[in-house]
Amino acid sequence: MSAPQKKLPFRPIQEIQKSIADRLSGIKYKIAVMSGKGGVGKSFVTANLAFALAYRGKKVVVLDADFYGPSIPKMMGVEGQRVYATPEGLIPVTGPLGVKIVSVDFMLPDDEAPVIWRGPMLTNAMLELLENVLWGEADYMLIDLPPGTGDAPLTVAQMIPNLTGAIIVTIPSEVSQKVVMKSVNFAKRLNVPILGIVENMSGFTCPCDGKTYPIFGSGGGKRVAERAGVDFLGSIPLDPRISESNDKGIPFFVEYPDTPAAKAFLKIADKIVEKVEKAKVTSS
Ligand SMILES: Nc1ncnc2c1ncn2[C@@H]1O[C@H](COP(=O)(O)OP(=O)(O)OP(=O)(O)O)[C@@H](O)[C@H]1O
Ligand SMILES: [Mg+2]
Repeated sequence: MSAPQKKLPFRPIQEIQKSIADRLSGIKYKIAVMSGKGGVGKSFVTANLAFALAYRGKKVVVLDADFYGPSIPKMMGVEGQRVYATPEGLIPVTGPLGVKIVSVDFMLPDDEAPVIWRGPMLTNAMLELLENVLWGEADYMLIDLPPGTGDAPLTVAQMIPNLTGAIIVTIPSEVSQKVVMKSVNFAKRLNVPILGIVENMSGFTCPCDGKTYPIFGSGGGKRVAERAGVDFLGSIPLDPRISESNDKGIPFFVEYPDTPAAKAFLKIADKIVEKVEKAKVTSS
């Protein structure tokens, strides 16, 4: 005789949406960081923008929504930590500058565990996280998305109530400019306002003299933003110290606050604050 099949209780989507909305009710602005392309620095931008906003005195939380390759814990200096489960819900890990962080990585058995999620499992796991984390009060939530326009971005766009907007990350190359349009169109179709485009790996800061050299030419990010009819938020240069600090487990922004890249993050943070707090964010 075969074992009885365990049936998951059916819950109407409105009920799930309501409980997610309750959990997120203390967070003022919720921003997703996305790109149609992998490896352009979405996680790096999420992590360092979170620190830049916290440096400006904002209360910041980060949701690592990349279940396949979570890299936020390493970039934010909290690798190997665990979330704490209480009867009321999950307590996020607190990282540098008081930024609260939740990643599926804090729940996996070990670092080497392969993360195998099928689409529906991933969506369920994300919803469960969104329904169970005790975020408390915060000014900003930054959500690090995996590349592309698959299940995770879709779940975030559809299940997070009043998403303030999306930041699209690109790099200065023709291929990447094309994929930017995919993200722009994805956000438009889901009625997620686009806060703007960040161009990462734009030029090279040489630690030898601290100067930034435009190795791929300049202005690509700005041009693509103009073409897409969205704002350009700023450029972040390549800096070899970024991977060094990642390897050491010290967040770049915290270790090198005086570099052109860290200063660029502060400028972008200020633009975002200006845009979402002082001006009305409109859906583009
Ligand atoms: N401006 C930069 N200068 C130097 N290294 C960088 C810079 N931006 C990102 N990196 C490095 O490039 C690698 C890819 O960055 P990251 O993981 O943030 O990309 P991603 O878009 O999130 O990738 P994925 O699509 O896999 O999620 C990382 O090792 C990161 O440290
Ligand atoms: Mg990433």
